[in-house]
Amino acid sequence: MRLILLIWPLFLFAKEDWFITKLEYGKMLYNNPRGISCAKCHGKYAQGKIISKYYIKIKNRKILKIIKAPNIQNVSYEQFKKKLFHKKLSVMPKYDYLTNQEINAIYMYIQSISRKEK
Ligand code: HEC
Repeated sequence: MRLILLIWPLFLFAKEDWFITKLEYGKMLYNNPRGISCAKCHGKYAQGKIISKYYIKIKNRKILKIIKAPNIQNVSYEQFKKKLFHKKLSVMPKYDYLTNQEINAIYMYIQSISRKEK
C-alpha cells in the first residue's frame, strides 16, 4: 500500500499522447523553475553536487567545511514536495509558488533520469 502511495505520481500523467512532452516540461522546470535552477546545486542528473568549500579556523586549526546538495533521485514524492515548501533556514531556496502539476513534472523528470542511470 505504501509503495503504491509513493509511486502513484509516476502514473498520474503517463497517458501516452503527452508522456514525452511531460518529461520535457519537467526537464525545463528542473533547469528553470522560475527561480534558481535545481541543476545548479543538485547537478544536471540530480545526482548531487558540492556547492562550496571553505575553511574555518578554530584555535589555529583549519577545518574544511563542505556544502553539498544531496542526490535527489531517490526521494519520495511526499518528501520532495515538502522540501520545496520548507520553512527552515536553508541553503536551498523555497519554491512554494510551484503548482502541483509543475512539481509532478519535475519529480517525474528526475525519476526518469535515475531510471536511465541504473
Ligand atoms: C542554492 C542551492 C540549491 C538549489 C537551487 C536547490 N537546492 Fe535542493 N537542496 C540544497 C541543499 C544544500 C539541500 C540539503 C540541505 C537541506 O535540506 O536544506 C537540498 C535538499 C533538497 C531536497 C531534500 C533531499 C533529501 O534527501 O531530503 C530536495 C527534494 C531538493 N533539495 C530538491 C530541489 C529541487 C527540486 C530544486 C529546484 C526546484 C532544488 N532542490 C534547488 C540546495 C539547493
